[in-house]
Amino acid sequence: MGFGPGHESYEILCSVTNKTVIFLLVSLFHMALSLKTLVQQCKSFQQIKQLQGYFITSGFFQYCPSRTKLLEVCAISPSGNLNYAIQMFNSIESPTTSDWNAIIRGFATSNEPKHAIKYYQSVFLSKFNRPDALTCSFVLKACARVLALFEAKQIHNHVIRFGFFADVLLVTTLLDVYAKVGDLDDAQKLFDEMGKRDIATWNALIAGLAQGSRPRDALGLFKRMEVEGLKPNEVTVIGALSACSQLSALVEGEAVHRYVTEEGLDGNVQVCNVLIDMYAKCGSVAKALGVFDSMKCSKSLVSWNTIIMALAMHGNGSGALEIFDEMGRVGVVPDGISYLAALCACNHAGLVSDGKRLFRAMVGAGIIPNVKHFGSMVDLLGRSGRLEEAYQIIKSMPMSPDVVLWQTLLGASKTFGNVEMAERASRALVEMGSNTDGDFVLLSNVYAAQERWDDVGRVRKAMKNQDVRKVPGFSFTEVKGVTYKFVNGDQSHQDWQEIYKKLDEIGFKVKEYGYVPETNYVLHDIGEEDKENALCHHSEKLAVAFGLISTSGGTPIQVNKNLRICGDCHVVIKLISKIYDREIIVRDRSRFHHFNAGLCSCGDYW
Ligand SMILES: *[C@@H]1O[C@H](CO)[C@@H](O)[C@H](O)[C@H]1NC(C)=O
Ligand SMILES: [Zn+2]
Repeated sequence: MGFGPGHESYEILCSVTNKTVIFLLVSLFHMALSLKTLVQQCKSFQQIKQLQGYFITSGFFQYCPSRTKLLEVCAISPSGNLNYAIQMFNSIESPTTSDWNAIIRGFATSNEPKHAIKYYQSVFLSKFNRPDALTCSFVLKACARVLALFEAKQIHNHVIRFGFFADVLLVTTLLDVYAKVGDLDDAQKLFDEMGKRDIATWNALIAGLAQGSRPRDALGLFKRMEVEGLKPNEVTVIGALSACSQLSALVEGEAVHRYVTEEGLDGNVQVCNVLIDMYAKCGSVAKALGVFDSMKCSKSLVSWNTIIMALAMHGNGSGALEIFDEMGRVGVVPDGISYLAALCACNHAGLVSDGKRLFRAMVGAGIIPNVKHFGSMVDLLGRSGRLEEAYQIIKSMPMSPDVVLWQTLLGASKTFGNVEMAERASRALVEMGSNTDGDFVLLSNVYAAQERWDDVGRVRKAMKNQDVRKVPGFSFTEVKGVTYKFVNGDQSHQDWQEIYKKLDEIGFKVKEYGYVPETNYVLHDIGEEDKENALCHHSEKLAVAFGLISTSGGTPIQVNKNLRICGDCHVVIKLISKIYDREIIVRDRSRFHHFNAGLCSCGDYW
């Protein structure tokens, strides 16, 4: 008798086997499900290791999708451990793309994002796996962090080859890499190629352009967005406003402000804060105050700090302190930044006793002063001639003073002709390895004022022997939406001859007002006449002269300078504002100077 289909025992056996198989499958399924839950509930590294052990002993490790989940938890979550995840990954016989993704994503957010790129290259070369859109997205995030432009371009090719280009999110990530790396041309090109864009895309590009050195393009894009009928949101507006701040582009800033009001985006406190900052940086502190006073949303600490700093930078010390007091009255507790802003206000307005009072109040409130607070105090005391007090502050600091502090003291020593203090400060600077030409010039000028020519010679020799670093000064100004940059003695501008002609005219006119060039500001082995020329071709004067010849009367001229405005330029620009009846605003490294009718808002106190 054979044993086969139709035989009774066979049927029984089969049905038993089927049942067993089904039973086994069902229990496996339940186990897999509970594994999945267990993985999701994993809270500690210990649990991860336990679960991995369980996966291995139960035979699930090599094939179960929950294994990938466990790997992800280990590679990415705070309770995980990337090194351990890699060990785990290495013990997988045939990793899936998702396994690769877990590791690449783990590296992309780790301290060593460049390894994400290496793993990406391996998966790209492997025979068994192909990167998916997520792989590309994770590795691109790593590229953005290590500014890997070359690799990003390769991945760009892969994105096209694998047909992921329609994935707006992925392409936006790619665009974000270009924007962050500063390859704004490629960013813009990619943007133009994209068929579909969402706001995130616009935002990425606008923010990238604004933070890169292309705020003008950011603004252009913002306008295009409006033309294309897209609605910029809070994030876009913040990007556009920060572009305006960088450009000191008041007219554009006002246009964005109008949009903000129309769309009701001024209910967002961050937008309001950026607006305040934009107006202050574009030279209009009155408009900054206007925004601050009419805020519909409740003011945040940042709002208060921004307006106090704005008033401080514009030399309205009493106004800044008023608002600082008001802040306390309405129950907002000032932080270290608020105190710094208030100290700067005292500093720019010469309010010594207020500054001292605030510093004590800050320490009393339990806020530990940082080097900037100390710097502000040193500046305040130094400018008012209390050099010894300033020196004591530096000595009393719990942290080691930085170069800027000593430079501040040196500058004050020069102003008050205190040779001994100037020497102390210079010695400290030399010990710190600072070799900026300005420091040597200051010290040499201190000696020159005392007619100590031997010492002057010594300093000059030291300057020649040491590799003295010159920080080149430059200024820029905007005329009809175009930014023009000038360096000292610049002759590269196409209208340079006209600019120099204007400067000659200015030089002639200011002398009628009793102006005598302060050749102290120049230190070279050149004769007095050349010194005068070197002075009158300073970048800020070039920019102002250009402003005069290329804008019509009544238009304020705004100039930005990378260093502090030079003393001689300050005198001359005051006179220009009177002689030519022009409002001139110079934003230098530390503050704004509003020149009007022969006076400056800083009261010559800077
Ligand atoms: C200074 O700031 C205050 C605000 O606290 C303002 O009321 C005042 O008009 C400002 N003064 C000037 C000269 O701008
Ligand atoms: Zn000034």
